[in-house]
Amino acid sequence: MLSHEVNESMTRVGRGTPAGELLRRYWQPVAAEAELADDNPKLRIRALGEDLVLFRDGSGRLGLVEEQCCHRSASLFYGFVEDDGIRCPYHGWKYDCTGACIEQPFEPKDSTLKDRVKQRAYPVETLGGMVWAYMGPAPAPLLPRWGQLLREDGVRGIYVQPVLECNWLQVMENSVDPCHTYYLHAHTLMLKGKGNYGAYYYRPIEKMHFEIVEEPNWVGVRKQRIYGGDKAEEEEGHPVIFPNYLLSPQREHIVMHMRLPVDDTHTKVFRYQFTPTVDGSRVEQPVPVPVAYMPPIKDADGAYHMDNFASHDGMAWETQGPITDRARENLGTTDAGIALYRRLLRDQIKRVQDGKDPLGLIRDPQLNEYIDIPVSTGQARVAREGGSVSA
Ligand code: FES
Ligand SMILES: [Fe+2]
Repeated sequence: MLSHEVNESMTRVGRGTPAGELLRRYWQPVAAEAELADDNPKLRIRALGEDLVLFRDGSGRLGLVEEQCCHRSASLFYGFVEDDGIRCPYHGWKYDCTGACIEQPFEPKDSTLKDRVKQRAYPVETLGGMVWAYMGPAPAPLLPRWGQLLREDGVRGIYVQPVLECNWLQVMENSVDPCHTYYLHAHTLMLKGKGNYGAYYYRPIEKMHFEIVEEPNWVGVRKQRIYGGDKAEEEEGHPVIFPNYLLSPQREHIVMHMRLPVDDTHTKVFRYQFTPTVDGSRVEQPVPVPVAYMPPIKDADGAYHMDNFASHDGMAWETQGPITDRARENLGTTDAGIALYRRLLRDQIKRVQDGKDPLGLIRDPQLNEYIDIPVSTGQARVAREGGSVSA
């Protein structure tokens, strides 16, 4: 059970809030590169409670600027993308990718006003087909080079989920809550006559292990399930990568769930999927990485259809409330992973408040050549064998 004050400090993401300041120390996934169309390369982005516009100028540079123009606050989303920046649709002020104002068409020629104003802008980088933003204080750490983004022995795709109507921490806590898979996923699908889809999880969980992992180039919580019954198995485990990623085996795929805190009560999930070739052979990688949009988790009448994992999880997270009230919960032994994750989160908030880097930031390029994070292989084996581990 947590006090209202602690709950607020762990969940709110705005500038100046404890968790908001922590999350701003890490690069955040804001879009798939393929979402920036060639003929209209701009996107409206909401991240950490801030309204932003992502654009690619005519020279191929990416910019991420505050949506409201610093002149008189019209939206730059309706602006004109030009060779060297984006021009506001209202009076034509133009900003480059760093937010510098480079033109004010109707100010006097000798005016210094444009040198005295600046549009808020954030550094952006691309890697693995994703666009990443750094919204914290300079100097930015290195963008992590996870193997999931770099490896070439398979096929990758980015699947964007409909924006969830709940706080980011509910989504993350689910990822250190491994016994939820039995009823929420496997049992639900079994009752719907789709048992094969959840069969891997339809086994008695005998034990669960959790540990905080602290490597030089990432931190997180690794969880491991030990299944009993006639299909007993000890998983190798798979991790939450702090602060807002899950790396998870899903049948023959390895999926990195990238959870962007949109604002206090909305979360956007990019499901970054990699499917390794069985023999380890290299695959030609399309540029940009293809992107697709996942279907709604609810029916037209607003009820969760509960036909797939995304709908199950979305139901659980959203029905906990926009920001769940952790003062009313009663944690059990199965919630040990949640306790570990919260401790990690609170410790990192404290480090930032003390003026230190939180754990998991990378500033040494040698630690960032290729970050390999292993995951359980049981699901891939089951998929190769033709499906079910459970009767
Ligand atoms: S409001 Fe943008 S140029 Fe005036
Ligand atoms: Fe789940």
